[in-house]
Amino acid sequence: MINMYNSGLSIVRYLAKSNIIVQGRYASQALPQLSSEKYDVKRKNFGTVQAADINYFKSILSEQRVVTDESDVLPFNIDWIKNCRGQSKVVLKPKTTEEVSKILAYCNEKRLAVCPQGGNTGLVGGSVPVFDEIVLSFMLMNKIISLDEISGALVCEAGCILENVDNYVRNHNLIMPLDLGAKGTCHVGGNVSTNAGGLRLLRYGNLHGSLLGIEAVKADGTVIDCLRSLKKDNTGYHLKHLFVGSEGTLGIVTKLAIHCPVLPKAVTLGFFGVENFDNVLKLYRSAKASLGEILSAFEMADREAITSTSKNLKLPNPLSEYPFYVLLETHGSDEEHDADKLNRFLNKEMDSGLILDGTVTSEPAKMQTIWNLRESIAGAGLLDGYIFKYDVSIPIVKYYDLVPLLRQRLGSKATRVYGYGHIGDGNIHINVTVPEYNKEVSSLLEPFIFEEVSKLQGSVSAEHGIGFRKPQYIHYSKDRSALGLMRDLKTLMDPNGILNPYKVLPDDV
Ligand code: FAD
Ligand code: MLT
Ligand code: ZN
Repeated sequence: MINMYNSGLSIVRYLAKSNIIVQGRYASQALPQLSSEKYDVKRKNFGTVQAADINYFKSILSEQRVVTDESDVLPFNIDWIKNCRGQSKVVLKPKTTEEVSKILAYCNEKRLAVCPQGGNTGLVGGSVPVFDEIVLSFMLMNKIISLDEISGALVCEAGCILENVDNYVRNHNLIMPLDLGAKGTCHVGGNVSTNAGGLRLLRYGNLHGSLLGIEAVKADGTVIDCLRSLKKDNTGYHLKHLFVGSEGTLGIVTKLAIHCPVLPKAVTLGFFGVENFDNVLKLYRSAKASLGEILSAFEMADREAITSTSKNLKLPNPLSEYPFYVLLETHGSDEEHDADKLNRFLNKEMDSGLILDGTVTSEPAKMQTIWNLRESIAGAGLLDGYIFKYDVSIPIVKYYDLVPLLRQRLGSKATRVYGYGHIGDGNIHINVTVPEYNKEVSSLLEPFIFEEVSKLQGSVSAEHGIGFRKPQYIHYSKDRSALGLMRDLKTLMDPNGILNPYKVLPDDV
C-alpha cells in the first residue's frame, strides 16, 4: 500500500537539521586502545614538542588558542567511531591563513609533525594523530567570505560547518552541492580534503566538479592562492584538485570557493520496501528512466541496517520489515510536474511488484524523519559495541555480493553484518558489528574484503578516503605507477613529511 503524504504546491525547503552527530553520544566508557599499539606502528623521526615551542605558538595565537590540558586535548585524539586514539599533547586553533602559515613554517623548520583536523567525523582514522603530532584544528576558521547569488559562487573559510553554510546559502535560494549525515559537525575544509561524496552525488556530482577555487598552505608555510570563483579557468595545471581528497597530506586547505546549485522548489521523498536486491536494481533503472533529471538521491539499505538502527536508536520506521529498503528523492522546480512524474513511476512499479509497500511525502518533517533513519545507520551500530566499517565501490550488478559472503564467513562471530549506501554511485557501506574489538574478526575481514573488492574491479575506498586505516590496502585499487607519482608529489610538497604522517601513502612506495 502506498501512503501519499502531500504538502500541496508550497515551496518545500528541505530541512537539513543536524541529527545524530553529537561527539561521544555513542561512546563506550572505555577509551579506545592507542592506535600505535593496536596497529603496531613505529614512530617516525620527528621532533618532540618542547616548552619553547608552546611559548612560540602562544606568541602567535594567544594563550587560549593553544590547548595543552590533557582532558581538553583528549577528544581531538579520538576518532568518531572510537577506533583510533592518538597521543597528541597540544591542539592549535588558528583563526587566519597567516597564522596557519606561521605555524607550518615553524613546524617544518623544527620537524614537528602536524595532524590537520576539521569536524573529526572522518571514518578512516585520518583526522586524529597516531603519536604526538600537533593537532591543527580549524574550528575557529569559520567565516563566510562572499556569495555571488547570480553565479552561485560561495567563498568561505575551511572550518565552516557544512550545515551552517547550507543554511546560509538556502536563505539566498541556493544549496550546498553536497549533503551527508555528518553535516552538523563536519567542516567544508574536511569535505574537500576527503573529497566527500554523500547523499546527492548522483545529482550534483563529485566535489571536484563543484570546487571553483582553493587557498591552501604548503608544509613550508607557503600560501598557494588558487581562490578564483570562475567556472572556467584553463590556465595550466588544475592545482586545486591536488588538495581534493589528499586528506591533509599535501597541504592545509584554508579557504575555498564552491559552486552552489539553485534551491529546489519541489522536494519529494519516497521510502519503499523491496523483495530482493535484483528488484532494487530494476527499480533504480526504472527510476532513472522515469524521473530523469529530477532524481536527486537513490539510496538502499538492507533489512538488518534499517531494523537495527530503528531498534538501537529507537527511531520510527514508517514501513514494516522488508528484505531491502529504497529511499528515493526528487529535486525539481515544479511540484505539480514532479509529483505527476513520481506518481506515474509509483503506479507502474507497484503494479509490476518491484515496490511492495511505501510512503511518499513532501512534508519537511516527514521527509526529515525518513532521512534521519537513513543517516543514522552510520552510528547506530556503535551501540552493539564496536564497528568494522567498509566503504567500497563495486560494479553495480555485484553491488551487494559481499554482504552474504561476509555473513557466511563470519557466522556467529559477528553480531550483525549489513549493507547500505549510495546505490546510484555504486558505493556500498558494509558494517560489521561485534561486542568489542576482536583481532580474530579483524583478521577474517582484512585483507579478505579488499581482495574480494579487487577481484570485482572495485575500489577499496569509494568516498571516505584512505586515512590511517587503509594505506596498506591502497595497492588493491591503485597501480604502482600511480602510487609512485603520489609519492613524488608528497616529496615535492612536503619534503620533511610533517603533514599528517602515517596516513594515505604506504611506506613502501
Ligand atoms: P575530519 O574528519 O576532521 O578530517 C578528515 C581528513 O581531512 C583528515 O585526514 C584530516 O587531516 C583532513 N582535513 C580536515 N580538514 C582539513 C583542512 N582544512 N586541510 C587539510 N586537511 C584537512 N563521508 C562521505 O563521503 N559521504 C557520506 O555520506 C558520509 N556520511 C557520514 C555520516 C556520518 C554520520 C559520519 C560520522 C561520517 C560520514 N562521512 C561521510 C565521513 C566524513 O563525514 C567525511 O569524510 C567528511 O568529509 C569529513 O569532514 P571533517 O571536517 O569531519 O574532517
Ligand atoms: C553514509 O553514507 O551513511 C556514510 O558514508 C557513513 C557510513 O558509512 O556509515
Ligand atoms: Zn556514504
